[in-house]
Amino acid sequence: MSKISVGIVGVGVHVPEKVLTNFDLEQMVDTSDTWIRTRTGIAERRVAAEGIATSDLAVEAAKAALDDAGITADEVDLILVTTSTPDMIFPSTACLVQSKLGIAGCAAFDLQAACTGFVYGFTVAAQFIETGMYKTVLLIGADAFTKYVNWQDRNTCVLFGDGAGAVVLRRVDDGYGLLSSYLAADGSGADLLKIPAGGSALPGNEYSIENNLHYVQMVGGEVFKFAVRILPEAGTKALEKAGLTVTDVDYLVPHQANIRIINAAADRLGINKEKIIVNLEKYGNTSTASIPLALYDLYASGGLKRGDVLLFVGFGAGLTWGANVIRWSEGGGR
Ligand code: ACO
Repeated sequence: MSKISVGIVGVGVHVPEKVLTNFDLEQMVDTSDTWIRTRTGIAERRVAAEGIATSDLAVEAAKAALDDAGITADEVDLILVTTSTPDMIFPSTACLVQSKLGIAGCAAFDLQAACTGFVYGFTVAAQFIETGMYKTVLLIGADAFTKYVNWQDRNTCVLFGDGAGAVVLRRVDDGYGLLSSYLAADGSGADLLKIPAGGSALPGNEYSIENNLHYVQMVGGEVFKFAVRILPEAGTKALEKAGLTVTDVDYLVPHQANIRIINAAADRLGINKEKIIVNLEKYGNTSTASIPLALYDLYASGGLKRGDVLLFVGFGAGLTWGANVIRWSEGGGR
């Protein structure tokens, strides 16, 4: 018996209201709008207000996705939140989202794969439906990295923004939806991008605060080289698994870290720039939320049609990387 096909039947996003522009950052650290634009492609990012946590962003995106799918929260069998900036170590952000949605009983858990989270999450979530265990999964990619950047460190604070994107996954027509996934990791690169304190290796304490160890640390140049190499590799591997090539791709939806990474990787992949969805100029790097936020822009523009082939590619801390190939189904169309 062939596998059940799983696709996106609703999409929703949420970003905080507060916009922090490059010009605002010029007042905070030794940087310039020109440097940030030319080195990253970012013009502004959204910043969650004090007291607003990842689950608050996630629940708004979730409500929008449920609404778009035309289903109610109590029809959800599983809430899967991908995040590296959970509200707290435990309980999971997925449980907090469940409570904020006013439902109880369905399964809920978090998955952490940094900026590759949404690709990992899609792959994991789909399997619950493919196996027949669940009918409806709410997958949310949400991060609030601005809570974890050192606003005195120009190397990192200009890069990140906050946001959330959610999709509702359900059975779709055979041959549509998720065609293939490719996931990978290399833990030997763990030191290249991390938040050292706050976990069991170094619980937050006076020492960690004095030494800024509760903030994002990144070896930017190494992450850059890794990303340029891995983005085309992951994309190609997932396409091969689906029996497709890059010429079959209608839209590449990459993790939005840096326009130079996306352009260099696109050249290696040999994909036409018009097929690449880029919105990092307005949101910065929103980590696991970046792929659904970019997908939403495409979706809301009305540009997607039944049968379009989408390639999601993520890469990030871990190191982790991966890709999903999706054939857009009518259920997810407006
Ligand atoms: N404003 C002005 N100057 C800056 C800034 C800034 N905001 N940040 C760094 N610089 C300076 C550096 O100090 C350095 O100065 P120096 O030569 O006097 O030491 C100079 O600019 C050049 O620095 P580089 O690191 O060589 O700049 P680069 O061209 O590599 O760009 C960047 C830096 C944008 C961080 C790039 O390396 C990059 O994008 N890396 C990948 C980042 C990324 O994708 N991270 C997220 C991964 S996903 C995840 O899991 C979260």
